Amino acid sequence: MNNNDRLTAFITGASSGIGAVYARSLAKRGYNLVLHGRRRELLEQHAEQLRREFGVDVEIVIAELSDPQEMQNLEQHILHIDKLGFLVNNAGFGLPEDFHSSDSKDNQIMLRVHAEATIRLTHAALKVMLPRKSGAIVNVSSVAGFLISSRNAMYCATKAFLNTFSESLYLELHGSGIKVQVLCPGFTTTDFHKKLDLVPRVPMSRKFMSAEYVVNASLRDLDRGKPVCIPGGKYKLVPILLRVLPRWVLYRIVLRIW
Ligand SMILES: NC(=O)c1ccc[n+]([C@@H]2O[C@H](COP(=O)([O-])OP(=O)(O)OC[C@H]3O[C@@H](n4cnc5c(N)ncnc54)[C@H](OP(=O)(O)O)[C@@H]3O)[C@@H](O)[C@H]2O)c1
Repeated sequence: MNNNDRLTAFITGASSGIGAVYARSLAKRGYNLVLHGRRRELLEQHAEQLRREFGVDVEIVIAELSDPQEMQNLEQHILHIDKLGFLVNNAGFGLPEDFHSSDSKDNQIMLRVHAEATIRLTHAALKVMLPRKSGAIVNVSSVAGFLISSRNAMYCATKAFLNTFSESLYLELHGSGIKVQVLCPGFTTTDFHKKLDLVPRVPMSRKFMSAEYVVNASLRDLDRGKPVCIPGGKYKLVPILLRVLPRWVLYRIVLRIW
């Protein structure tokens, strides 16, 4: 296929982990790629490998998503991709401290990266996708988005925003030709925990899912038109349990384990 005829997938946070696996999977499905991240060297290595292996065009964009100017540049970038077929809002991170002892600036950055960047890039993508009546948007949230926590208030709250936003958008865009999914993974082996200096103990890390498993589940569910993807049997139980557990029981469990 001529590369000019291919659709383009735009993936944030594609330098490692879940984002890097979306890049490989979507290249395999025949998409040209725009890979966003901040670690240029890693992105260049991935891009070169994907060009060689799949023959697709791969472009790299470096941007700090909490920076207003860099964010605006990314929006403009998306608005100028006329064959945009896929957007993955994947970039994200955790914070090591409790809310009360955290740096206020870090909370602001998390809000911008998880919520504001997703809102703005999704809005820009829809301007390009809706006239063509086709496309897919995946917002990478977390199973934490269903939960409450005594130690991760900002992470749970910003991911809960993504869940509500994405499911509502799924309904708003029903019949438009645009698919929307929120992906809610549990523990997954990526650079996420290394960056937090939380290298899991061996028995725990064996219970982690691979990023490949998570992305396969996401794309399979997207093909089936499912708006919420929770990879892994045990994690699927979380929202079900939360619907039936009295709140006071949940508070006790959370205070004990999380
Ligand atoms: N791993 C898990 O257990 C797990 C579980 C549930 C949900 N998630 C979610 O999955 C998504 C992907 O994370 P991952 O596990 O694959 O971790 P990862 O390997 O650390 O990847 C995170 C990506 O996000 C980018 N990023 C982070 N902060 C950014 C910022 N301020 N500006 C621009 N880019 C930024 C990183 O870019 P650079 O590194 O290049 O700077 C990197 O490409 C996140 O939204 C995370 O919340 C992960």
